[in-house]
Amino acid sequence: MATQMKPLLTDLVSTVSSVPPNYVRSESDRPNLNEVTFDHSFPVVDLEGLYGPNHSSVIKEIGEACQNYGFFQVKNHGVPKEVIDKMLHVSRDFFHLPESERLKNYSDDPMKTTRLSTSFNVKTENVSSWRDYLRLHCFPLEDYVHEWPTNPPSFREDAAEYCKNTGRLALGLLEAISESLGLERDYINSALGKHAQHMAINYYPPCPEPELTYGLPVHADPNVITILLQDDVPGLQVRKDGKWIAVNAIPYTFIVNIGDQIQVLSNDSYRSVLHRAVVNCKEERISIPTFYCPSPDAVMRPSPQLIDKDHPPFYTNYSYSEYYQKFWKRGLNAETCLDMFKI
Ligand code: OGA
Ligand code: NI
Repeated sequence: MATQMKPLLTDLVSTVSSVPPNYVRSESDRPNLNEVTFDHSFPVVDLEGLYGPNHSSVIKEIGEACQNYGFFQVKNHGVPKEVIDKMLHVSRDFFHLPESERLKNYSDDPMKTTRLSTSFNVKTENVSSWRDYLRLHCFPLEDYVHEWPTNPPSFREDAAEYCKNTGRLALGLLEAISESLGLERDYINSALGKHAQHMAINYYPPCPEPELTYGLPVHADPNVITILLQDDVPGLQVRKDGKWIAVNAIPYTFIVNIGDQIQVLSNDSYRSVLHRAVVNCKEERISIPTFYCPSPDAVMRPSPQLIDKDHPPFYTNYSYSEYYQKFWKRGLNAETCLDMFKI
């Protein structure tokens, strides 16, 4: 019974040899890992040419990736290797701290701007997921950095440097995505109010029975775009043509995906694609998504330029805070929150 008292999965794992009942998915909702395939044409976009003579072909590649997959990898993205190395390193060190040290950051309130937690939303969910995570708000940095962990000692410095870099990358990608939709280059960026940026550091401990549970169950991301860094352990899977495809980690690349807000802004030209994270019995895994977001007060709506006789607006206007609160309340699910805002 004592094991149930551990708030974090990391500290429970060493005491169990099978998956505890509250992590076991019903039979119809299991990963079926032997049915997952690998897609050799998963798009990898080289951003080197984005600001040079190949600009329009890179925009076209991004547009096709958004349309066909909703996901793509990027290389030559401008984030220095040492910034990535330090972020991965300090994240691993954080999750290897003693329990008492980590628990100083613990909270189960999803609206808290800095918090360490477990699963997804322990207050509302019925089945738990095989994950602990540290969530941070990162923009404007000076509003939040004083809340961040001070242990490991370089955490704030390393994570702040990383956030500044991924924020810059997000802005560039949003310009490219706007252009690929035939909109003005700053269309999406100017639709996001004062902008916001969040980061999660996901820690997936090894799991004795990975077929029974998820690191993260199927979901679409509620934000604008996500820029995911992962270590060298695979685990991300993307839904494509009714099948699950595994996305392997290529060192020093990021995985970018369209979130729900681009689906709305683009009036369904681009879709926010379902994905999930699975776990394995051998190795821990770390993934670090940067969630680029509208500010809470920003009003989201389909772009008037993407509305015509054949494409009426598919969504109502709403404030992003309304959307975000719904997302955390209802939990991760294949039916995305988008349905609640459909006309
Ligand atoms: C997420 C997510 C995937 C992963 O945090 O929203 O989809 O591989 N993560 O951890
Ligand atoms: Ni996600």
